[in-house]
Amino acid sequence: MKTAGLKKSFEEFFGDGKEPEVYRAPGRVNLIGEHTDYNNGLVFPIAINLSMYGLFRPTNKDKIRVYSENLDKFEEIRLANISQRGDNWTDYVRGVLSGLESQSETISGFDLYLRSEIPVGSGLSSSAALEVVTAVGTIMTLDLDKVEDLDLIDLCQKAENDFVGANTGIMDQYASYLGREGAGLLIDTSEPSHKLVDLGLDGYELLVIDTTVSHTHGNNEYNRRRRECERAVNAINETTEGEELRSLSDVASEELDGILPKLEEKLAKRLEHVVRENERVEKAAGFFQKGRIKEVGELFYASHASLRDLYEVSSPELDFLIEFARTEGIPGARMTGGGFGGSTIHLVPEGQADEYLENASQEFEKEFGITPGSFPVSPSDGAKFQN
Ligand code: GLA
Repeated sequence: MKTAGLKKSFEEFFGDGKEPEVYRAPGRVNLIGEHTDYNNGLVFPIAINLSMYGLFRPTNKDKIRVYSENLDKFEEIRLANISQRGDNWTDYVRGVLSGLESQSETISGFDLYLRSEIPVGSGLSSSAALEVVTAVGTIMTLDLDKVEDLDLIDLCQKAENDFVGANTGIMDQYASYLGREGAGLLIDTSEPSHKLVDLGLDGYELLVIDTTVSHTHGNNEYNRRRRECERAVNAINETTEGEELRSLSDVASEELDGILPKLEEKLAKRLEHVVRENERVEKAAGFFQKGRIKEVGELFYASHASLRDLYEVSSPELDFLIEFARTEGIPGARMTGGGFGGSTIHLVPEGQADEYLENASQEFEKEFGITPGSFPVSPSDGAKFQN
């Protein structure tokens, strides 16, 4: 995006003065490894070529003035009240600022203008991008002490958990901050740590098709899944001898046959998903690196089936798009993100995306009366590498 136009919009809104500084943080698509991040498991996201832009200008006022162009909403956050919730979209900003403040940083006044290319509610992590751009922009603009990568990611995640009340894992903020062009991030969330894996996408494109059914109503179900996983850990610890499990990812796949029959059916399904999904992530990262997209694709379909049948976070719209991909002979497709709506990711042979999308959209419209959204995505740099 051209920054000149952005700066002009900033000045039209906030008035002339010192030139604002522009920062960006991308959204993310998770290639595979769903609902494993809060189970200390493996995930494999990319940062994408759609970003949240934040323009910052310091002021000598005792407040932060923030305007969201997409929402067309303006709010003021008094410096004295940074750590109070606003019960609106500014909580993502407040959460991050209050996290910085609790690290003994002094936050002074600034104006912030936000423009997002990432559609809200599509499961592409516009909220994580907002948190990350707020953190990076505030640190740079106010010349605060640099924060270690993992601390910054953690602070953004806490903003979401503690301020917004969505009990999400670490994946989205991690990818938005540390993503890298051309690569996927194989994140072991138990440490957390990551490896960059080159994506051998030769001959294929990554296409996101958004059901446009907002996933936000899934928050309660999301938090419920987390609690179910915790219950499963406790139940296994109560019935099994040996070392205590910390998380479901501590269960080895060879142990499943022994453990599954001892668990209540629902908890058994959640466990099986997590253990098998971790295995799929590891395999998929290896296949991606070798450019073996057909094998990756089969893992995508298997991941989707598991999210539908075992973890029970899919929706009719998501299932429809994945079924359509299969019947069209597309190598791989799956829901991506938390589920209950949101987006799907498709591995499409190069040159076929337009026709495929047109057919998918037509069939989707016939079935649900909704036009789906779509974006070709490519692995891009995270916020850390931009300025
Ligand atoms: C949401 C959360 C992530 C992750 C996914 C499911 O996107 O924000 O932390 O748990 O759901 O994989």
